[in-house]
Amino acid sequence: MRRKLVAGNWKMHGALKQNSALLAQITAEASGLFCEVAVCPPYPYLAQVQSLIQGSVLTLGAQSVSEHPSGAFTGEVSASMLADFGCRYVLVGHSERRALFGETDVVVAAKFEAAQKAGLVPILCVGETLGEREAGDTGFVVARQLSAVLDRVGVAAMVSAVVAYEPVWAIGTGVTASPAQAQEVHAAIRAQVAALDLGVAAGLRILYGGSVKPRNAMELFGQLDIDGGLIGGAALVADDFLAICLAAN
Ligand code: 13P
Repeated sequence: MRRKLVAGNWKMHGALKQNSALLAQITAEASGLFCEVAVCPPYPYLAQVQSLIQGSVLTLGAQSVSEHPSGAFTGEVSASMLADFGCRYVLVGHSERRALFGETDVVVAAKFEAAQKAGLVPILCVGETLGEREAGDTGFVVARQLSAVLDRVGVAAMVSAVVAYEPVWAIGTGVTASPAQAQEVHAAIRAQVAALDLGVAAGLRILYGGSVKPRNAMELFGQLDIDGGLIGGAALVADDFLAICLAAN
């Protein structure tokens, strides 16, 4: 039985006052949940959020990480620094990082490895663009993105990792993959891991992300291979985020 995980990716949103109001409501109302709930604020707010969620059921994550352990990399943040501030999770390979910041499969795999070396649990994001889906390349693209990581770290590393399938065309667009479309890709991801190790595949949590809202969360999370969600816009609205957590519960 895989425990469901709902992770909020705040992207580049937030402010001190706004974060405390948002988390005051979420921590109060999430207290009885069985699913795991994580929030991934921007770097400068990690310390604030770490203190705001103390004693609550929430866990902390970051949105990206350097592939380097330390050194002359101006503007970058290492995995050990994230661990210092209580992060359990870190997103790697979010499509916005891939598309806007040039992160290749090779770089993403290096970040994944760096995260694990510091004791963090990477949430590996994969997903196809609209063009790739229309060309019938969804399976190929997602398998390639996953292979890059599996080839570098080996299947055993997936025991302490999470995968998030986020079709790029569904992110921030209000267009959600249908539960059947999402389930098909999730099953393919699990099958790819199962081909290397059945036990690891059975325990692997695969989240869906892309316009998850209170109205569609329950049906998505009800699919066999969907183990929770990676939430963008709705993670910034306490009522919506809580309703999505409840759907995963
Ligand atoms: P939205 O939920 O806003 O579509 O964002 C999804 C996402 O990118 C989460 O990482």
